[in-house]
Amino acid sequence: MIICIGEVLSTTDLADVYGRLDRVRFVDGKVTAGWAARGVKDNLQAAADDPLAEALLARLRRRLEAHPVLAMAARPRRFGPLLLSRYEAGMGYGRHVDDAIMAGIRSDCSFTLFLSDPAAYDGGELVIESPAGEQGFKLEPGHLVLYPSTTLHRVETVTRGVRLALVGWLESYVRSPDRRELLFELDTARRRLFDEQGKGEVFDLVDKSFRNLLRMWAET
Ligand code: NI
Repeated sequence: MIICIGEVLSTTDLADVYGRLDRVRFVDGKVTAGWAARGVKDNLQAAADDPLAEALLARLRRRLEAHPVLAMAARPRRFGPLLLSRYEAGMGYGRHVDDAIMAGIRSDCSFTLFLSDPAAYDGGELVIESPAGEQGFKLEPGHLVLYPSTTLHRVETVTRGVRLALVGWLESYVRSPDRRELLFELDTARRRLFDEQGKGEVFDLVDKSFRNLLRMWAET
């Protein structure tokens, strides 16, 4: 399942991000690419030892960890590394698959949180491949796309302006994308049932099924 989640960051968050990003030091993105992806990765990312970037990433991490829809869609067990990436005109990231294990976590879900106004740059779509074809994403600032780390994907070359984004990975309690999708839909239905009908007999059975499926499939 690929899902877009709106307004992960508020306008206040975004103003704070922009205020600090100007002063963050960026380095060649190849330093964190796996050996196979290094040849196709051409971007910049915030230097790992920059204290400004560290503070900014800590704030963004808190927002992600607290987001209810991200929690329902991904069932995060542990968040992995977060990277602030910057693509200037001529930069892109060719077709690749993300590393399976990063900083001690298994990458089950990948995400991109868009930070730049899409009108401020051309190109720069995140394109995700699937057997049904390709899907391109270029979202409003503060919006996020979550997708299985198992996919081949790329970032189209930016031809004008600057594309800033936060990218990251997480290990899920539920390894299978199919099971995560089923749980997400059942959880959504369960919540809607509660809103519409309250805590009746039907809700209790659906609620029980949801919780027991999660219990059956969760890896701790
Ligand atoms: Ni990637």
